[in-house]
Amino acid sequence: MAKILLLYATTDGQTLRICQRLQQVAESQGNEVTLLPLQDWKSVDLAPFDKIVLGASIRYGKHSPLLHDFVQQRRAVLEHKPSAFFSVNVVARKPEKNQPNTNPYVLKFLKRTRWQPQQLAVFAGKIEYPKLGVLDRQMIRFIMWVTKGPTDPTGTFEFTDWARVDAFGKEISDMGG
Ligand SMILES: Cc1cc2nc3c(=O)[nH]c(=O)nc-3n(C[C@H](O)[C@H](O)[C@H](O)COP(=O)(O)O)c2cc1C
Repeated sequence: MAKILLLYATTDGQTLRICQRLQQVAESQGNEVTLLPLQDWKSVDLAPFDKIVLGASIRYGKHSPLLHDFVQQRRAVLEHKPSAFFSVNVVARKPEKNQPNTNPYVLKFLKRTRWQPQQLAVFAGKIEYPKLGVLDRQMIRFIMWVTKGPTDPTGTFEFTDWARVDAFGKEISDMGG
C-alpha cells in the first residue's frame, strides 16, 4: 500500500472528476489516496506521501499558474519521489494530439519546467456550452469551428476517454520508487 497525493487545478470540474476516478482506481488497488486542490499546496506537508500526482486543465492555452508555482517550489520533493502529471484539454480529442509526446500543452509544460515525471498522461476534456459565459462560449465555439469540432451552443460534449483514465490509475498505482 502506498500513500498517494493527488493535486488538481480545475475551472469547470472535469479535472476533478478525472482525479476522483483515479482515486477510485488507486484505492481499489489498495492505496491510500488524498485528493486536494492545488490552491492548498502551501499548507500541505508532502513528507508523508510516497507518490505525488498533479493534474491541471488548459484554459486559453495555459495551465494554472499554481501548477508552475508548485513544480518550481517543490522540485526537490518531485525529483525524489515517484511522481506523475496529466493535462486536460480539448486539443487532445484529436488522435494525433492525444499522447503526452504529441500533445502541444504537455510538451510545452515539460520543456518549460524540465521536470521529468515517471508517468505522464493527457486526457481530452469536456465542453458544456450552456454553462459558459457569453464571451467564453463564443470564443470556444469559434475555436471549435476552426478545428472542426462541435459548435451547438446548447450542447455538452465530453471527449474524455474513461478507459484511458482507468489505465492511468493503474499506472500510478504501479509506479515505483
Ligand atoms: C474558456 C475556456 C478556454 C479553453 N481553452 C482551451 C485551449 O486553449 N486549448 C484547449 O485544448 N482546450 C481549452 N479549453 C478546454 C478545456 O481544457 C476543457 O474544457 C477541460 O475539460 C477543462 O477542464 P476543467 O473543467 O478541469 O477546468 C478551454 C475551455 C474553456 C471553458
